[in-house]
Amino acid sequence: SITTSWASSPLNQAPASSLLRPRASTFRVAVLGAGGGIGQPLSLLIKMSPLVSSLNLYDIANVRGIAADLSHCNSPCRVAGFSGAAELARCLSGADVVIIPAGVPRKPGMTRDDLFTINASIVKTLVEAVADLAPTALIHIISNPVNSTVPIAAEVLKQKGVYDPRKLFGVTTLDVVRANTFLAQKKNLRLVDVDVPVIGGHAGTTILPLLSKARPATVLTGDEVEELTARIQNGGTEVVEAKAGAGSATLSMAYAAARFLESSLRGLDGDQEVYECAYVQSALTELPFFASRVKLGRKGVEAAVPADLQGLSGFEERALEALKPELRASIDKGLAFVRKEE
Ligand code: NAI
Repeated sequence: SITTSWASSPLNQAPASSLLRPRASTFRVAVLGAGGGIGQPLSLLIKMSPLVSSLNLYDIANVRGIAADLSHCNSPCRVAGFSGAAELARCLSGADVVIIPAGVPRKPGMTRDDLFTINASIVKTLVEAVADLAPTALIHIISNPVNSTVPIAAEVLKQKGVYDPRKLFGVTTLDVVRANTFLAQKKNLRLVDVDVPVIGGHAGTTILPLLSKARPATVLTGDEVEELTARIQNGGTEVVEAKAGAGSATLSMAYAAARFLESSLRGLDGDQEVYECAYVQSALTELPFFASRVKLGRKGVEAAVPADLQGLSGFEERALEALKPELRASIDKGLAFVRKEE
């Protein structure tokens, strides 16, 4: 059966079988942009993970204080801070997973694409360094617009000759977290039981929750589907507006990124049946990058889950077709950005 198990606790709520199994390994994680609104709480959650032995924090701003602060928590993981480009190489050396939340967040009235000009360059520069210094690491891209920054990262890795599509992810877990929360609230379900796959991309209407595939199976009226879909698509904007100029989602994003990391590490560690939605290179549709549920394993993505795209509702079929032109344009924009700079 397909389950996502990281739902109710800040640490992974793994299936009993995998909790009982002694852990073969622990892993080294680097966070680039660790001083930011997402980076700090994410680093705290990672510090709590029994699967992580070393946590390297990097930012252009000073992160030594954050590293010193976290290093006093009496969990086993070692924490070190690296500030400024000259220290990036040491930060990345030996990393198994590199998480990138570096970049500027939205303010009210902005779309994620409005961040492109600044964040495209930041992601390109950082992924160039990852390609040189941690070429076999899994890369989790959080920096927006994810629909474009993941193609940018892929193109950089290709140019460097180290692209492994199984290892590059756009983190869309927050869309799943929101879909689960909003559906549970709407239908009064026990939150830990709810799992909604979210496909497409990570911006506006490219975010497509498949409510017809939600577990537990839930009867929704057409109006309820439309209302919930819109709320999930606009969840980020809900937070941007409530923060009124002070940034976008950070705490829920940190929670979501920690869940995605934990699932990735369980996959690397050999756990079976680890599934998460993520924006990856994909053959499920005609688009080269697409978010869907994927099985995670020892080398990253083992397989996409095509079943989610079969037997969609009429509403979902139409929404899927409607999102494709925007998603394709965002992908092309990312690829063009790297190619023109060659
Ligand atoms: P923030 O501004 O609080 O933090 C960003 C951090 O990145 C800062 O500490 C900054 O010094 C650092 N930074 C900037 N340029 C850098 C570089 N070249 N190298 C290393 N560090 C650098 O922003 P916040 O709220 O943490 O958001 C970060 C990104 O995450 C934004 O692009 C935002 O849009 C995105 N985001 C993505 C979500 C998703 O679901 N994938 C959800 C929420 C935000």
